[in-house]
Amino acid sequence: MSEDTTTARMRAIIQESAGGPEVLTLAEVDRPEPMPTEVLVQVHAAGGVGHLAVQLAKHLGAYVIGTARGSKHAFVHALGADEVIDYTEEDFAETVRDVDLVIDSIGGDYGARSLQTLRNGGTLAQLNPEPDEELLRQAGERGIWAGFVLVEPDNAAMATIAELVEAGRLGVEVDTVLPFEQAAKAHELGETNRATGKIVLTVAG
Ligand SMILES: NC(=O)c1ccc[n+]([C@@H]2O[C@H](COP(=O)([O-])OP(=O)(O)OC[C@H]3O[C@@H](n4cnc5c(N)ncnc54)[C@H](OP(=O)(O)O)[C@@H]3O)[C@@H](O)[C@H]2O)c1
Repeated sequence: MSEDTTTARMRAIIQESAGGPEVLTLAEVDRPEPMPTEVLVQVHAAGGVGHLAVQLAKHLGAYVIGTARGSKHAFVHALGADEVIDYTEEDFAETVRDVDLVIDSIGGDYGARSLQTLRNGGTLAQLNPEPDEELLRQAGERGIWAGFVLVEPDNAAMATIAELVEAGRLGVEVDTVLPFEQAAKAHELGETNRATGKIVLTVAG
């Protein structure tokens, strides 16, 4: 596939879905080898990032455990998650053990709680914010790689994403669509922390 074709396809996908380059973080995450894809806990599974992470993790062959409130379990299962934990009823840190990878998109005490669920030598990918020194120390003692993962789009990964979308193996849930002029409202909606999928801004012309 030529670069121009890939770029055009991705532009169309981004315009349509606003899935955007964030997807790449999860598909091309800079992680240690061997790639830990057997079991994964995705914290925030119904969110803009999380619902894509669940699908990509399944694509990579992972057994996926997601956390979401009960009313969103059908949605997260439909994304492919093997298990969904209602975070309003159950503490995943008490019940999940020995997973290979946790993608934590919440931060705060979720970092330390995620460590409790990981096997020695596992991986903790934090999307927000960076792990603090104490967390890194605790992770290091158990041979766990813990780190902040940031979006770094590249053409090859975009092409892979485009193929998955075209093959119907990756879909983007759109929570709300707003014109660019209402960007402030979009931010307010995002700050409610309740979106299911993406909040999309459209640009006229
Ligand atoms: N590092 C990077 O490159 C990068 C890129 C993009 C985003 N981020 C960060 O990743 C985080 C997530 O972003 P996002 O756009 O996916 O957020 P989002 O779409 O606003 O997340 C909202 C979703 O999170 C769920 N949720 C809220 N609290 C939860 C909890 N305690 N456990 C499980 N699910 C919970 C909500 O479900 P309910 O309504 O059921 O509560 C809702 O579906 C943000 O902090 C963002 O800054 C980082």
